[in-house]
Amino acid sequence: MKISAKTGEYIAQVQSKLDSTAFPHAPEGLYEPCSYLLQLGGKRIRPALLLMAADMYGAGTAQYINQAVCVEVFHNFTLMHDDIMDEAPVRRGKPTVHKKWNLNTGILSGDVMFVKAYELLAEGLNPEEIHKVLPVFSRTAAEVCEGQQMDMNFESRDDVSPEEYLEMIRLKTAVLLGAALKIGAVLAKAPDEQTQLLYRFGCNLGVAFQIKDDLLDAFGDTDKTGKQRGGDILANKKTLLLLLAKQNATQEQLQQLTTLESSKIKAEEKIARTLAIFTATGAVELATREMNKYAEKAETALNDLKPVKPEVKEALKQLSEALLNREF
Ligand code: IPE
Ligand code: IPE
Ligand code: MG
Ligand code: MG
Ligand code: MG
Repeated sequence: MKISAKTGEYIAQVQSKLDSTAFPHAPEGLYEPCSYLLQLGGKRIRPALLLMAADMYGAGTAQYINQAVCVEVFHNFTLMHDDIMDEAPVRRGKPTVHKKWNLNTGILSGDVMFVKAYELLAEGLNPEEIHKVLPVFSRTAAEVCEGQQMDMNFESRDDVSPEEYLEMIRLKTAVLLGAALKIGAVLAKAPDEQTQLLYRFGCNLGVAFQIKDDLLDAFGDTDKTGKQRGGDILANKKTLLLLLAKQNATQEQLQQLTTLESSKIKAEEKIARTLAIFTATGAVELATREMNKYAEKAETALNDLKPVKPEVKEALKQLSEALLNREF
């Protein structure tokens, strides 16, 4: 991913704080999986967004590093539980926590990461600041759960509309990008309308980001994504790719897709046949177009921003482009 030097600095700050944020040693079975997952890497974009928003409105970056790390710890908690729900074997190129340890470990280590995230959210803030950011964080965390529930409900439905899919990914993915920016802006005491624009930018970028994630799940290179390829197809996820393929399929292709969903053929074959239909129906181009539409909405919100430090706005623009061209 082509990250600008400026954005690289925010990510490096987050990484360095993460490296020095230790979980307790005992009980090892509870905390080791937390450190394991966090140390496997990841793009660290959510904490970087929080720092960028704070910096943009003159708060610097050092002051709110705990809140940035909070967002990353929360994100990693959602990944740990998401991998259980999605039955994913690999994450960031290594076995997922529930595979390396077991299901109960994935549940409880995830829970304690969520607690850790709340601890970090309040760290170093005064009561007035806590009062402002706590509801933003809590609302967002609940929305992520709502989106995840919709994602699972959709697995067994065959009448999901693209609108429902877009609402589902807004909740499970996009609002966290929006909230990271919002928390940074609120802490930096940015004007309300600026905070709202940043939130809108983050949510639209987040929707585009998840469409890209779905494209990578289908067509990405496992060595780069660090995730099993075709996992969404195997789990009968109602991705935009599938919904658009269905909308544009011939009677025969539609029949094939329906049969594939419930068939017991080998995983590799199910993936290959489904991908062929995604390509043949033009679903890949259509999904990419939808992704770009949300990227444009994000850019419109960004263009209206009047930050104290305009160079950070440029870095944000560059980061959104990099994210939508990413290979992992
Ligand atoms: C993965 O998020 C989960 C989604 C919301 C798509 P990322 O793609 O940000 O994962 P990491 O943190 O970089 O591994
Ligand atoms: C995950 O979406 C969203 C959350 C973790 C809340 P995905 O299930 O598509 O994420 P990946 O592909 O496993 O990273
Ligand atoms: Mg998943
Ligand atoms: Mg999932
Ligand atoms: Mg995915």
